[in-house]
Amino acid sequence: MIQYRQLLDRLQEHRDLPDAGLSFLVSCTDPAVQEDLAERSRSEARRVFGREVYLRGLVEWSNVCCCDCLYCGIRASNASLPRYTLDRETLLRCAENVYSAGIRTLVIQGGENPSAARSLVEIVAEISGSWPLMAITLSLGELPFSLYKAFREAGAHRYLLRHETASSGHYARLHPAGKTLERRLECLRELRRLGFQVGMGMMVGSPFQTEENLLEDLRLLQSFQPEMIGIGPFIPQSDTPLGSYPAGDVETTLRLISILRLMMPEALIPATTALATLAPDGRRRGLLSGANVIMPSFTPAPVREAYRLYDNKSHEELDTIKTELASIGYGISPSRGDYHKC
Ligand code: 5AD
Repeated sequence: MIQYRQLLDRLQEHRDLPDAGLSFLVSCTDPAVQEDLAERSRSEARRVFGREVYLRGLVEWSNVCCCDCLYCGIRASNASLPRYTLDRETLLRCAENVYSAGIRTLVIQGGENPSAARSLVEIVAEISGSWPLMAITLSLGELPFSLYKAFREAGAHRYLLRHETASSGHYARLHPAGKTLERRLECLRELRRLGFQVGMGMMVGSPFQTEENLLEDLRLLQSFQPEMIGIGPFIPQSDTPLGSYPAGDVETTLRLISILRLMMPEALIPATTALATLAPDGRRRGLLSGANVIMPSFTPAPVREAYRLYDNKSHEELDTIKTELASIGYGISPSRGDYHKC
């Protein structure tokens, strides 16, 4: 235990540690180690971003999904969910709401649905033309290269596609047959090749996950160097095949955020909704552990309930977030919040 400071010094200085050191930090529940880790990551985040957080206006565009991920509430076989897709006018209104709130990134997220996504290309072009100062982030799952390209040409800047787990064996246990880690990583490479800023990440504490898996996740993130890293605890959704597994651990998620901040100081790391759902102070603690992004919901209230990735999913209201930020002495950055290498 006495050597943990040396470990943290080394991680901070080299942005890296041997496997044994990383594994120790991922699993260490000693409060003194956790606090030291969080403190270093938070000062690292402050060095790069100041005491300012980037906001992303999240619009959950559609919960129609062709995919059947075993953990996800909007999976195709969940018949108990009313399905919706926002129409053009509603989506434009949401974009307007995001922009008028002073937020300069719009995130359009939806289930994996290539044919519906095709109809979105034109709307993305329209949004990009109407609000040229606003970054557009998409999160629409695995799509054909041609469609990624069409979105890029329509003016989208960033794409979030979590890898979910870096172990192909584990990946196969969380996803239906035919979905592979290999294809997921190929999509990520394609997105990068097209010039998107790319976001990756994993669920923490998903069923069957081992400590070794988390180490593999860290190594994958380290080698890919995504501009954005979204990690959150697994939360069971009662209508899914994995609905009776326990939720992931908040503390482990926070430690991973801190470790990733020290490994990749400039990465854009959100304090995720899943974290805020599992712990009442999850968002605040995420920021104090090195996260620097928050994604308030701009999904129209009537459909919010239907975007049920997991049970009790919280929705981040802008006003609550502002109050919470002020309480820890943080402000909101007026900038678009693109990735910059220092
Ligand atoms: N618990 C936590 N996160 C989930 N996601 C989907 N289902 C769950 C769940 N049950 C996450 C996945 C996906 C993102 C859109 O939501 O990581 O990439």
